[in-house]
Amino acid sequence: METRMNLRTTCMVLVASIVTLGAGSLLWHSPAGAADATPAAPAAKPYTVKDGNKVDMNTYKGFLYYGDACLRCHGPDGSGSSYAPNLTQVLKRLTKEQVENTVINGKKDVSQSSDLVMPAFGTDADVVENLDNIYDYLLARSDGALGRGHPEHLEQ
Ligand code: HEC
Repeated sequence: METRMNLRTTCMVLVASIVTLGAGSLLWHSPAGAADATPAAPAAKPYTVKDGNKVDMNTYKGFLYYGDACLRCHGPDGSGSSYAPNLTQVLKRLTKEQVENTVINGKKDVSQSSDLVMPAFGTDADVVENLDNIYDYLLARSDGALGRGHPEHLEQ
């Protein structure tokens, strides 16, 4: 009884495999179909980094505007200071929306006796226009894809 069940299951699996293989090889012969059948790649990153320090133009702009607007408090490379948090860590726990909301609206830590204030950048056109670029730069830093220091930009 046991053996018969197993045999039956094996047969069914075999049939299923043959059907799958058949469908697979059909796709294989058509280049378009084969491309569609490729498993989804991991979500694309919004930045490109080569050799650890060469970045696409938007990420490069993000680096420049970070230097203009954020570095004086958050330190070089987004890595924090005694006054403001390390943004490479912050980006691991906040969503892009949360980060961008804080930059636009600011934040004041009322739980602390010290006056920690994240200014609102909602009226700073340079920052608003480059918010995605600044985020992408910080994400590349946070992911460990981009090292410290002044990146180079890739020819495009
Ligand atoms: C004047 C100093 C100052 C400047 C300039 C500044 N920040 Fe901040 N930022 C802070 C401080 C202080 C905090 C912590 C505030 C708190 O915890 O309430 C903070 C918090 C943040 C947070 C939220 C962290 C969290 O855990 O919620 C983000 C995101 C952030 N800053 C991004 C930026 C970006 C991007 C820029 C540049 C566009 C920038 N900041 C410029 C001082 C600054």
